Amino acid sequence: MKSNIIVTGGAGFLGSHFVRQMLGTDTCRVTNVDCLTYAGDLRRLADVSDRDDYRFEKLDIADEEPIKALMAGVRPDAVVHYAAESHVTRSENDPDRFYRTNVEGTRVLLDAAVAAGVKRFVHVSTDEVYGSILEGSFKESDKPDGVGIAASPYSKSKALADDLARSYSDRLEVVVVRPTNAFGPWQFPEKVFPRWVTRGLRSQPMLVWGDGLYIRQWLFAEDFARAVALVLDKGENGEAYNIGPVHEPEITNLALANWLAEFLGLPADSIQMTGYDRPDHDRRYAVDSTKIRALGWRSGDVWDQFTQSVDWFRDHRDWWESLIAEAESIYADAAPAGKAEPV
Ligand SMILES: NC(=O)c1ccc[n+]([C@@H]2O[C@H](COP(=O)([O-])OP(=O)(O)OC[C@H]3O[C@@H](n4cnc5c(N)ncnc54)[C@H](O)[C@@H]3O)[C@@H](O)[C@H]2O)c1
Repeated sequence: MKSNIIVTGGAGFLGSHFVRQMLGTDTCRVTNVDCLTYAGDLRRLADVSDRDDYRFEKLDIADEEPIKALMAGVRPDAVVHYAAESHVTRSENDPDRFYRTNVEGTRVLLDAAVAAGVKRFVHVSTDEVYGSILEGSFKESDKPDGVGIAASPYSKSKALADDLARSYSDRLEVVVVRPTNAFGPWQFPEKVFPRWVTRGLRSQPMLVWGDGLYIRQWLFAEDFARAVALVLDKGENGEAYNIGPVHEPEITNLALANWLAEFLGLPADSIQMTGYDRPDHDRRYAVDSTKIRALGWRSGDVWDQFTQSVDWFRDHRDWWESLIAEAESIYADAAPAGKAEPV
């Protein structure tokens, strides 16, 4: 018999990859719960939306009564919780929305899952709960309780949600995943990788903040979906799992922008260093993924994955072009007076 899962935030970038991957296994029925914020888009799942084993419910995860009713009606075997406000710059402008969705929404889901007798809950957290690290890498046990050194309202809200989720492991099985910077097809063009790609494809300069020497571990959306499927099956109750590839050498933002410019055949002045930088911009994120690797997870070749992703954006202009105004609007707002980005 097929298992029955609720995926929250399945209309978003990472959630949609997971929904498609799980339906592809033909082993489960999926109820996708998403309230369709600016970031949610059902076009991401148009290819599976007619399937009998897929259903969409437009609900806000922080609305307690409708979520309880849904959970009691679906009685899923597991909940996989992706839904969140996910953009750091937006969190600087509207932190309350982030606490409501990311913390209160997680609490509502956990309580509703306990009440409905759900067996397992996978919570999607982030590597940003650790804060920045200049050398070495964070292990799962390095997360301090509470917000620790998490810098932005986004990462603070995710740090609190991460603690909250694990605190329920005496009432249902909870597994937390902490992925690194994700990229891939269908990513909203406000995030740095698709922003640079879509700007490059429109012959707009790629804007690099600060000195460009920030370091991230770049995680392909499909690799992450496989990691989530793995912990859904094999993760240990109460445990967190870092999900991040290792790049040797490490990839600075500037190195990535240079690669993109070359790959897209753009002129040298297509990269512009801006006067603007994010407040408290975390210098380097690095997680140790030994634990998920011990379960058998491996990531693919990141440069192949960047190539695939750029090709996808080149082929799906009809999808992202209408999102550019919304995606770019946030940056004009964020730039301090006199340091506006040269758009
Ligand atoms: N993208 C990354 O690089 C990255 C890295 C680490 C962790 N994460 C985490 O992964 C998860 C998914 O990230 P993403 O990039 O796919 O985000 P996204 O912004 O693309 O998608 C979020 C989805 O959640 C939905 N949503 C937002 N608020 C909601 C609410 N109150 N009720 C119901 N649905 C709501 C949105 O409509 C959207 O479909 C998030 O929890 C995020 O914190 C993302």
